[in-house]
Formats: sequence, C-alpha cells, structure tokens
Amino acid sequence: MLADKDRIFTNLYGYQPWNVDAAMKRGDWDNTKALLELGQDKIIDVIKASGLRGRGGAGFPTGMKWSFMPKEPRPDRPSFLVINADESEPGSCKDREIIRHDPHKLIEGALVAGFAMRARAAYIYIRGEYIREAETLFAAVAEAYNRGFLGKNACGSGYDFDVFVHRGAGAYICGEETAMIESLEGKKGQPRLKPPFPAGAGLYGCPTTVNNVESIAVAPTILRRGAEWFSSFGRENNKGTKLFQISGHVDRPCVVEESMSISFRELIEKHCGGIRGGWDNLLAVIPGGSSVPLVPAAEIMDAPMDFDGLKAVGSGLGTAAVIVMDKSTDIVRAISRLSYFYKHESCGQCTPCREGTGWMWRVMERMRTGDADVAEIDTLFQVTKQVEGHTICALGDAAAWPIQGLIRHFRPEMERRIRERKGETGGNAPMMEAAE
Ligand SMILES: Cc1cc2nc3c(=O)[nH]c(=O)nc-3n(C[C@H](O)[C@H](O)[C@H](O)COP(=O)(O)O)c2cc1C
Ligand code: SF4
Repeated sequence: MLADKDRIFTNLYGYQPWNVDAAMKRGDWDNTKALLELGQDKIIDVIKASGLRGRGGAGFPTGMKWSFMPKEPRPDRPSFLVINADESEPGSCKDREIIRHDPHKLIEGALVAGFAMRARAAYIYIRGEYIREAETLFAAVAEAYNRGFLGKNACGSGYDFDVFVHRGAGAYICGEETAMIESLEGKKGQPRLKPPFPAGAGLYGCPTTVNNVESIAVAPTILRRGAEWFSSFGRENNKGTKLFQISGHVDRPCVVEESMSISFRELIEKHCGGIRGGWDNLLAVIPGGSSVPLVPAAEIMDAPMDFDGLKAVGSGLGTAAVIVMDKSTDIVRAISRLSYFYKHESCGQCTPCREGTGWMWRVMERMRTGDADVAEIDTLFQVTKQVEGHTICALGDAAAWPIQGLIRHFRPEMERRIRERKGETGGNAPMMEAAE
C-alpha cells in the first residue's frame, strides 16, 4: 500500500481545512519562488523525467505537452494554460476532491506549470454542477492573490501570472479541450477540427495548453521531491501515484491515491473492503470511466491498473474511474444507459456521432428488452465501427467502445434475451424501466 509519507494529496478527505494557512502547513506554497528559479526549461525537464502522463484520460506525457509551447511568446499573442475541471465522465469524481479539500495544490500547480510554459494566465474551467467546489476555488484564488502568490510579481519571482476561474454550464462535451476553449471564448461548446492544435492556435487564437486538474496539481510536489521519487512508483511508461475512484458494487466505494500499476485485486481489497458478496460475485468492471470498454471479472482481477495493463485487456485507464459491477447487474441495461448518456451529450456537429449515438441507443434499448434479432448484434457492432474514428472528437469513440466491449464479452447474454423474448427458450426476458 502507498505509504502516507508518499501521498501527494494529504487532505483528500478534508480532515483539515482547505484554506491557505492549513495548506501552507501541509507544505503548499513553501518557497515557490525557488521552484520558479529552476527556470522554465529545467521545470519541463523534471516533469518529463518524472514520467507524468496526463490524468484527464488520454495519458499524453505532460512535460512533452508543455514543451510544445512557444519559447518566446509574442506580446500580441500571449500563451495560456487552461485547466480542465469539467469532470463530467460518468464514474469520475477525483478532481472535485482536489478542488474542495486541497485547492491550493491546484493553484500553486497553475503558477508553476503556467510559468514553465511561459503562459500569461491560467483559466480553470469548472463544471457548472460543482457549485460548492467553485465557491471554494474562488475563495482559494482570492487568498493566493492576497498573499502575493498570484498577480504581479507572483511569489516575489518577478513573473506576472493571473488565475481565472470560469464556471461551465454543465455540458459533458465542454470537457473536450477544444470545446472548452470555444466555451471559454463565450461560444457554444463544440470541438474544433485539429490541426491546428491548441499549442499553435488555442484560446483567442493564442498558444494554449489544456491539462487536467490532477496533472497540474501534482506538479509542485514532483518538483519538490524530484522526478526520481515520482517515477519510483508504477511500471515503466506508467509512472507515479494516481487518484483512483472506485464506485459500484464494492463494500466501501472511495477515492484513493495509490501507486500506479497496483493490481485491481489489491486496490479493491486494501481500500474498498472487497467486492460485495465476495470475489465470485464479480461480473465485470469498467476501469477508466464510462468511455472505456468493460472487462469481465476473470480478466481484470489481476490486471495492473495502469495505461498498458488495461490496454492489454482491451480497455483503458482513462481517468481511473473504476466502476465495479457484481452479478446482480443487468449488464445490457447498464451499457444501454451509457449509450443514452452519449446520445444526450453529443454536440451534433458530425453526422456519425449525431445520428449514430441515437441509433445505437435505440438498438441497445431493444437489446435490453430482447426485442431484436440475433443478426442485429453484428449490425450494431458494425455501426460502432463506423462511428469510431470518424468524428471530430473522441465522443464518438466513447459512445462506440462500451457497446463493443459488451458485444465482445456478453454476446451470449444478449442472444439469450432475444431468444427468450421470442419464446424460443420458454423463459422471461427481464423487462425494466427505460433509461429516459
Ligand atoms: C468528450 C470528451 C470529454 C472530456 N472530458 C474531460 C474532462 O472532463 N476532464 C479532463 O481533464 N479531460 C477531459 N477530456 C480530455 C481532454 O480533451 C484533454 O485531453 C485533457 O484535458 C488533457 O489533459 P491531460 O493531458 O492533463 O490529461 C475529454 C475528452 C473528450 C473527448
Ligand atoms: S464526435 Fe460528437 S461530440 Fe464530438 S464533435 Fe462530433 S458530434 Fe460533436
């Protein structure tokens, strides 16, 4: 188990106050000036050497991303850091814990990361539903200004840096980085075609980096404790500590910081009190938030919880939002409910996503009740393949993958329902409430 001394988020559960005095006692804002004196290139080198990969889902190396920003921003084209606190992925609930209990880690991280990429300011985009969290964040940013940590000559470093908090209106798509930029500009949150990538033309057409809350909040601790310390956790290519968010059919759902690459079994045994009804009762797990394919019990039990370990079992780490389902779960219904979510959240710009998400959901509903033909399972699979990879943003993939995972692993259950509904086996297919 990760030792307490190695935890970055020491106030994750809010046992202590979030305010600046308590945060300083925990080590935040401790001579931040010295961190900045390392210089931009050195900070980026340390983050690269630490092996930190983005915690927002895609796992892009964080140091490398920062290095794409211009080394000499033009005065008329300042650079910006955008911090993604949209956290709307079903199952994901880690960034809110950072913001409500440890906001100064994020704000100090914003300064350090913003300085490293030569940004003029950071915009923290927080999802609209996080009302109390936004209140805490506004108050914490004000504290940081009052102490001279932000604004002109931030932390006495000679560097001017502002942090703005922007509240979203509650749309999942605004978590996609270019939709977030559009929304920040006051427009409808619709993803942009890439290229150009945000580092070339992002917020207000200026160079921009978008990073997840956790990716930014861990940066000051990595700089203080060193790249080697951070990379001593996890396997090659999967380094560091990570916030896991375990929900569903475990005895004690929780958010916990653990070492990357911990096995699923260990994670659940040590922090969640085991699977409800015991390990034999485990049906399947969605290991990275609703966008990744489910993994059946036998394949996940001893899988390392990291990018490569979950890829090897046909899924992904995503945001490490681990949704555990025991044998009481109606798995077809569960995936159909996710299909409804993606249909509802599609921004409608591209045809395969706009039409495909609705089509897939309607067919999934028939799969749920069994009012379908067995041959339609193949058609459904083919349609998911036509949506995947053919859209402007990854929401199309996110809608396709859960269905693909279901068909790959639970096809017999889908067929059973159809046959039962047709009366071929004489049983009763489950009839449940529609998702709407
Ligand atoms: C539909 C959609 C929703 C997303 N929602 C979030 C989100 O809520 N939070 C987040 O950090 N990243 C989200 N992302 C990923 C972001 O586009 C981006 O990759 C991420 O913020 C980069 O940060 P990182 O490099 O620190 O991981 C989403 C992506 C897509 C396609
Ligand atoms: S994939 Fe869907 S959500 Fe993304 S841009 Fe296209 S229509 Fe919008």
